Amino acid sequence: MRKDLIAGNWKMHSTHLDAIQMVQKLSYRLDPGDYERVEVVVCPPFTALRSAQTVIESDNLQIGLGAQHCFYEEQGAYTGEVSPQMLAKLSVDYVIAGHSERRQVFGETDEDVNKKVKAIFAAGMTPIMCCGETEEEREEEMTEAKVGSQVRLGLQGLTADQVAKLVIAYEPIWAIGTGKTASADDAGDMCTFVRNMVAEQFGEAADSVRVLYGGSVKPGNIAGLMAKRDIDGALVGGASLDPDSFASIVRYWM
Ligand code: 13P
Repeated sequence: MRKDLIAGNWKMHSTHLDAIQMVQKLSYRLDPGDYERVEVVVCPPFTALRSAQTVIESDNLQIGLGAQHCFYEEQGAYTGEVSPQMLAKLSVDYVIAGHSERRQVFGETDEDVNKKVKAIFAAGMTPIMCCGETEEEREEEMTEAKVGSQVRLGLQGLTADQVAKLVIAYEPIWAIGTGKTASADDAGDMCTFVRNMVAEQFGEAADSVRVLYGGSVKPGNIAGLMAKRDIDGALVGGASLDPDSFASIVRYWM
């Protein structure tokens, strides 16, 4: 019922020229059967979106396109920002909202994330809303409190129909780029917790919302994560930069 989704978040890596090669290499490593089983998405930096879009369209690839961030206004005097409408015009399907790096380095609040999620939907795209606790919060057993409030505030004012289409990525901050992955059991439990939170607020939409895990996902740990009932895919950072390892993650059952 919920199609698996594996998305590569390239972060601030790759020029537009690199992106062309990365998308092509990835496509050579995947078969039509893979796309039937898993929705595959790449999220290059803004400057590489147009090139990635052109390769995807001209080679008729089934790879989806995502952006890593946007502002919530449609246009205006917001130097340096990019609007959801601008992304939609590039055939972007998904936009990441509230990644922990945006929250920590650029000060994004839950309120900003909520506005972005709404603006992304309003422009006809799907948000990938991120949540996750710091190492400190985990040690203080604040994980559920933190993630619970991020989910609650992030989804405020959405309709159940919107929530049913949403993607939520649970990314414990201590596991991002550190090589420390949450155990499959812990990751699975937290994704169940996220789904339960959604169910409390939006009822049946929780059966459709896709919950991804992110944080040092690699070819060697993806299968264990995907075996968990409430994990519907992964948001992959470092390992998505190498088409071989990203393709192995997509084909996690092999
Ligand atoms: P890593 O896979 O490099 O740990 O990054 C995870 C992440 O932040 C994806 O959004």
